[in-house]
Amino acid sequence: MTFDSAAFRQSMSQLPTGVAVVALAEEDAIHAMTVGSFTSLSLDPPLVLACIGGRARMAPLFAVGQMFSANVLRSDQAALSTYFARAGMAETPPPHRFLPWEGSPRLEGSAVSLACRVDQVVPGGDHLIVIGRVQAIHLGLTPRDPLIFFDRRYHRVGAGTGDQAPEIEAQEEGPRAFYEMW
Ligand SMILES: Cc1cc2nc3c(=O)[nH]c(=O)nc-3n(C[C@H](O)[C@H](O)[C@H](O)COP(=O)(O)O)c2cc1C
Repeated sequence: MTFDSAAFRQSMSQLPTGVAVVALAEEDAIHAMTVGSFTSLSLDPPLVLACIGGRARMAPLFAVGQMFSANVLRSDQAALSTYFARAGMAETPPPHRFLPWEGSPRLEGSAVSLACRVDQVVPGGDHLIVIGRVQAIHLGLTPRDPLIFFDRRYHRVGAGTGDQAPEIEAQEEGPRAFYEMW
Protein backbone atom coordinates (compact mmCIF):
# COMPACT_ATOMS: atom_id res chain seq x y z
CA MET A 1 0.00 0.00 0.00
CA THR A 2 1.53 3.29 -1.06
CA PHE A 3 -0.69 5.54 1.05
CA ASP A 4 -1.69 5.90 4.67
CA SER A 5 -5.14 6.30 6.18
CA ALA A 6 -4.78 10.10 6.34
CA ALA A 7 -4.25 10.17 2.56
CA PHE A 8 -7.25 7.88 2.06
CA ARG A 9 -9.39 10.13 4.26
CA GLN A 10 -8.21 13.20 2.40
CA SER A 11 -8.93 11.64 -0.98
CA MET A 12 -12.47 10.74 0.06
CA SER A 13 -12.98 14.26 1.45
CA GLN A 14 -12.89 15.39 -2.18
CA LEU A 15 -16.18 13.60 -2.83
CA PRO A 16 -19.00 15.97 -1.78
CA THR A 17 -21.86 14.30 0.06
CA GLY A 18 -25.16 15.30 1.56
CA VAL A 19 -25.54 15.00 5.32
CA ALA A 20 -28.19 12.96 7.11
CA VAL A 21 -29.04 12.32 10.74
CA VAL A 22 -30.07 8.73 11.38
CA ALA A 23 -32.30 8.35 14.42
CA LEU A 24 -34.09 5.58 16.24
CA ALA A 25 -36.11 5.25 19.41
CA GLU A 26 -35.19 2.67 21.98
CA GLU A 27 -37.48 2.47 24.98
CA ASP A 28 -37.84 6.12 25.98
CA ALA A 29 -34.54 7.32 24.54
CA ILE A 30 -33.86 8.75 21.08
CA HIS A 31 -30.46 7.97 19.59
CA ALA A 32 -29.19 9.97 16.64
CA MET A 33 -25.95 10.38 14.73
CA THR A 34 -24.70 12.29 11.71
CA VAL A 35 -23.75 10.35 8.58
CA GLY A 36 -22.37 11.39 5.21
CA SER A 37 -22.59 7.83 3.91
CA PHE A 38 -26.36 7.73 3.52
CA THR A 39 -27.28 6.83 -0.03
CA SER A 40 -29.79 4.96 -2.13
CA LEU A 41 -29.14 1.31 -2.96
CA SER A 42 -32.14 -0.05 -4.86
CA LEU A 43 -35.26 1.38 -6.47
CA ASP A 44 -37.37 -1.82 -6.40
CA PRO A 45 -37.45 -2.78 -3.61
CA PRO A 46 -36.73 0.68 -2.19
CA LEU A 47 -33.48 0.23 -0.26
CA VAL A 48 -31.06 2.74 1.21
CA LEU A 49 -27.83 2.28 3.13
CA ALA A 50 -25.63 4.03 5.66
CA CYS A 51 -22.17 3.01 6.83
CA ILE A 52 -21.97 3.11 10.62
CA GLY A 53 -18.63 3.00 12.43
CA GLY A 54 -18.35 -0.27 14.34
CA ARG A 55 -17.38 1.63 17.47
CA ALA A 56 -20.18 4.21 17.30
CA ARG A 57 -22.55 3.90 20.22
CA MET A 58 -25.45 3.39 17.86
CA ALA A 59 -23.80 0.51 15.99
CA PRO A 60 -25.30 -2.28 18.13
CA LEU A 61 -28.77 -0.72 17.86
CA PHE A 62 -29.11 -1.43 14.13
CA ALA A 63 -30.54 -4.95 14.38
CA VAL A 64 -32.57 -6.48 11.55
CA GLY A 65 -36.19 -5.32 11.86
CA GLN A 66 -35.33 -2.15 13.83
CA MET A 67 -37.05 1.01 12.56
CA PHE A 68 -34.94 4.12 12.01
CA SER A 69 -35.29 7.42 10.21
CA ALA A 70 -32.79 9.04 7.88
CA ASN A 71 -33.21 12.81 7.87
CA VAL A 72 -31.47 14.72 5.08
CA LEU A 73 -30.28 18.06 6.43
CA ARG A 74 -30.78 21.50 4.94
CA SER A 75 -27.95 23.99 4.66
CA ASP A 76 -29.23 25.87 7.73
CA GLN A 77 -28.94 22.70 9.85
CA ALA A 78 -25.12 22.52 9.97
CA ALA A 79 -25.16 23.04 13.74
CA LEU A 80 -27.32 19.92 14.08
CA SER A 81 -24.87 17.94 11.95
CA THR A 82 -22.04 18.96 14.28
CA TYR A 83 -24.12 18.33 17.39
CA PHE A 84 -25.14 14.81 16.37
CA ALA A 85 -21.56 14.00 15.42
CA ARG A 86 -20.48 14.64 18.99
CA ALA A 87 -23.45 13.29 20.82
CA GLY A 88 -21.27 12.22 23.74
CA MET A 89 -20.08 15.72 24.59
CA ALA A 90 -21.89 17.90 27.10
CA GLU A 91 -23.07 20.74 24.94
CA THR A 92 -26.22 22.80 24.63
CA PRO A 93 -28.16 21.27 21.77
CA PRO A 94 -29.17 23.57 18.94
CA PRO A 95 -32.97 23.90 18.82
CA HIS A 96 -34.51 20.82 17.27
CA ARG A 97 -37.39 18.44 17.74
CA PHE A 98 -38.01 14.78 16.94
CA LEU A 99 -41.60 13.85 16.13
CA PRO A 100 -42.97 10.32 16.46
CA TRP A 101 -43.51 9.11 12.91
CA GLU A 102 -43.96 5.70 11.29
CA GLY A 103 -42.18 3.87 14.10
CA SER A 104 -39.13 6.13 14.12
CA PRO A 105 -38.36 9.66 15.33
CA ARG A 106 -38.45 12.22 12.51
CA LEU A 107 -36.20 15.27 12.77
CA GLU A 108 -38.47 18.22 12.15
CA GLY A 109 -37.36 20.68 9.47
CA SER A 110 -35.24 18.24 7.43
CA ALA A 111 -35.28 18.45 3.64
CA VAL A 112 -36.58 14.90 3.44
CA SER A 113 -37.02 12.09 5.94
CA LEU A 114 -37.24 8.39 5.18
CA ALA A 115 -38.64 5.89 7.65
CA CYS A 116 -36.79 2.62 7.18
CA ARG A 117 -36.73 -0.88 8.61
CA VAL A 118 -33.29 -2.51 8.92
CA ASP A 119 -33.19 -5.19 6.23
CA GLN A 120 -29.58 -6.35 6.48
CA VAL A 121 -26.45 -5.44 8.39
CA VAL A 122 -23.33 -6.32 6.41
CA PRO A 123 -19.81 -6.00 7.86
CA GLY A 124 -17.62 -3.63 5.85
CA GLY A 125 -14.14 -3.31 7.32
CA ASP A 126 -14.36 -1.19 10.46
CA HIS A 127 -17.93 -0.12 9.59
CA LEU A 128 -21.31 -1.81 9.33
CA ILE A 129 -23.29 -1.36 6.14
CA VAL A 130 -26.83 -0.87 7.40
CA ILE A 131 -29.34 -1.55 4.63
CA GLY A 132 -32.81 -0.17 5.24
CA ARG A 133 -36.06 -0.81 3.42
CA VAL A 134 -37.95 2.45 3.03
CA GLN A 135 -41.41 2.40 4.60
CA ALA A 136 -42.46 6.04 4.34
CA ILE A 137 -41.24 9.35 2.95
CA HIS A 138 -41.75 12.85 4.32
CA LEU A 139 -40.75 15.62 1.95
CA GLY A 140 -40.07 18.95 3.66
CA LEU A 141 -41.33 22.27 2.43
CA THR A 142 -39.45 24.05 -0.34
CA PRO A 143 -36.87 25.50 -0.67
CA ARG A 144 -34.95 22.34 0.23
CA ASP A 145 -31.44 23.77 -0.05
CA PRO A 146 -29.27 20.80 1.05
CA LEU A 147 -26.30 20.79 3.41
CA ILE A 148 -23.15 19.63 1.61
CA PHE A 149 -20.04 18.19 3.26
CA PHE A 150 -16.86 18.60 1.21
CA ASP A 151 -13.17 18.92 2.09
CA ARG A 152 -14.07 18.67 5.80
CA ARG A 153 -16.24 21.78 5.63
CA TYR A 154 -19.93 22.51 5.21
CA HIS A 155 -21.09 24.05 1.97
CA ARG A 156 -24.28 24.82 0.16
CA VAL A 157 -25.21 24.35 -3.47
CA GLY A 158 -24.02 27.37 -5.45
CA ALA A 159 -26.15 29.74 -7.43
CA GLY A 160 -27.58 28.58 -10.73
CA THR A 161 -29.62 25.57 -11.64
CA GLY A 162 -26.79 23.51 -13.16
CA ASP A 163 -26.83 21.54 -16.39
CA GLN A 164 -29.55 19.03 -17.07
CA ALA A 165 -28.52 15.50 -15.99
CA PRO A 166 -29.64 12.45 -17.98
CA GLU A 167 -32.98 10.90 -17.09
CA ILE A 168 -31.52 7.60 -15.92
CA GLU A 169 -34.80 5.69 -15.88
CA ALA A 170 -35.53 6.77 -19.47
CA GLN A 171 -32.43 5.02 -20.87
CA GLU A 172 -33.69 1.87 -22.52
CA GLU A 173 -30.48 0.83 -24.24
CA GLY A 174 -28.49 0.92 -21.04
CA PRO A 175 -25.77 3.35 -20.12
CA ARG A 176 -23.03 4.05 -22.65
CA ALA A 177 -19.63 4.82 -21.23
CA PHE A 178 -16.56 5.94 -23.12
CA TYR A 179 -13.27 5.36 -21.42
CA GLU A 180 -9.68 4.59 -22.16
CA MET A 181 -8.31 1.18 -21.26
CA TRP A 182 -5.81 1.23 -18.41
C1 LIG B 1 -20.56 15.46 8.14
C2 LIG B 1 -20.30 14.20 8.95
C3 LIG B 1 -20.49 12.97 8.35
C4 LIG B 1 -20.28 11.79 9.07
N1 LIG B 1 -20.50 10.60 8.47
C5 LIG B 1 -20.37 9.44 9.18
C6 LIG B 1 -20.71 8.18 8.59
O1 LIG B 1 -21.12 8.09 7.45
N2 LIG B 1 -20.56 7.07 9.37
C7 LIG B 1 -20.12 7.13 10.66
O2 LIG B 1 -20.00 6.08 11.30
N3 LIG B 1 -19.80 8.32 11.25
C8 LIG B 1 -19.94 9.46 10.53
N4 LIG B 1 -19.66 10.68 11.12
C9 LIG B 1 -19.19 10.69 12.50
C10 LIG B 1 -20.33 10.40 13.46
O3 LIG B 1 -21.38 11.32 13.36
C11 LIG B 1 -19.79 10.41 14.90
O4 LIG B 1 -18.59 9.72 14.97
C12 LIG B 1 -20.74 9.72 15.80
O5 LIG B 1 -21.92 10.45 15.93
C13 LIG B 1 -20.12 9.60 17.15
O6 LIG B 1 -20.77 8.58 17.77
P1 LIG B 1 -20.20 8.07 19.16
O7 LIG B 1 -20.22 9.27 20.08
O8 LIG B 1 -21.13 7.02 19.52
O9 LIG B 1 -18.80 7.57 18.87
C14 LIG B 1 -19.85 11.86 10.42
C15 LIG B 1 -19.68 13.12 11.00
C16 LIG B 1 -19.90 14.27 10.29
C17 LIG B 1 -19.73 15.61 10.95
